[in-house]
Amino acid sequence: MDALIIRGPAKLEGKIEVSGSKNTALPLLFASLLFDEELHYENVPRLWDVETTLKLLESMGAEYSWHKEEGRVRILPKVRERLASYDWVKKMRAGILALGPLLAKYGEARVSLPGGCAIGARPVNFHLDAIKKLGATVSVENGYIHATAAKPLQGTRIVFPEVTVTGTENLLCVAVLAQGKTQIINAALEPEVIQLGRFLMDCGARIQGLGTATIEIEGVAKLTPPKLPIRVPADRIEAGTWIAIATATRSPLELLSCPVTDMDSVFAAYSEMGVRFEISGQDGTVYVVPPEKLKPLDIETQPYPGFPTDMQAQVLVNLCLASGTSTVKETIFENRFMHVAELKRLGANIRIHGNVATVEGPALLRGAPMMATDLRASACLVVAALAAVGETKISRIYHLDRGYQRLDEKLRKLGADIERISDA
Ligand code: EPZ
Repeated sequence: MDALIIRGPAKLEGKIEVSGSKNTALPLLFASLLFDEELHYENVPRLWDVETTLKLLESMGAEYSWHKEEGRVRILPKVRERLASYDWVKKMRAGILALGPLLAKYGEARVSLPGGCAIGARPVNFHLDAIKKLGATVSVENGYIHATAAKPLQGTRIVFPEVTVTGTENLLCVAVLAQGKTQIINAALEPEVIQLGRFLMDCGARIQGLGTATIEIEGVAKLTPPKLPIRVPADRIEAGTWIAIATATRSPLELLSCPVTDMDSVFAAYSEMGVRFEISGQDGTVYVVPPEKLKPLDIETQPYPGFPTDMQAQVLVNLCLASGTSTVKETIFENRFMHVAELKRLGANIRIHGNVATVEGPALLRGAPMMATDLRASACLVVAALAAVGETKISRIYHLDRGYQRLDEKLRKLGADIERISDA
């Protein structure tokens, strides 16, 4: 397993190109299962989760090629087995995204129950309840979901008890080929859902209400792949992570291809802390100008357009360095403070009470060995290590590589003293 050695405090300078969005790429790649014809993608980020997705599709019979440097993927979805096996889904919970497309296209899907992960139990009951309402027969045996549709699925009204991003994405993929009209109430508003919906509409799906809490889908008989390659938009969470890095190291940085319109809550939170943003032109160039002294903040994670839970760990590090008392409330996942114990090893002053972290700052962070536990927590440990005085070793950084394209290389280019070592 690899580890990162980071010597801080870092002073960074330069420009960063934000890569393609992981959480948009994954549903778009799984949606290839809705087709017989070949699909072409571009700006696909070079991530372990993309590798896992392509290998999972290949295990079903699909053929693919991936030009990693150019970010181009070609998939010929020749499905032989409608099975998403545990071997792959255990590596990436997003394997649940095979469920909707397989059921819609083939009337059958066997998908391993995604295990929980460090941040929570991650159940999929909302996904299963929704496809049952559309007429699927669903059983869960030996750790597998087995969904079948003896006759065409019938559109109906589906109410999600809680907002679920991949639940909405799975249901979109089923409803576009179901008979009649489906209404999704309490649908996720996340940009990743909108981008999947727009892709399906480009293929002939009839969808209204994307980006609102009520989405209406009129089923069609067949979808036709788009003529042009499917372009994966920039990653709003990676962009937010760079803002956290600039803020923690007090380094003005220039972000290129930033998905500005998807980041209002992040810009608002960091502006309240005193960070200044200069957004120039339509190409998403954002100049981030952090203040010398950060103001404290009370913030809570919410479904989009609220402050993203995937930015919670990163902003927490910034608040450790702010002058005063801050609070961070995590409302989406039940166990998403695993990074706090690691940050306290660097000298952070954080108290957890229920789902609220209270932070006293500014803390003088000093380098120490740490261990990554999940994807976004590993990013926050990098942010902290860059701000800390001295040397930090972060082990188990495969978590980082799942969701960030070569973060250490990008940081080195900006002047960070960071190296990747293999760790027994
Ligand atoms: C997506 O996960 C993202 N993953 C997550 O990003 C992100 O944190 C999350 O949405 C919230 O924004 C992908 O898009 C691949 P949910 P998802 O269903 O869809 C509960 C990252 O770091 N729930 O919106 O799995 C659930 O437990 C990852 O890139 C049920 O109870 O999240 C959670 O408390 C981490 N039953 C809440 O709803 C269900 O059937 C929101 O989960 C489904 C969800």
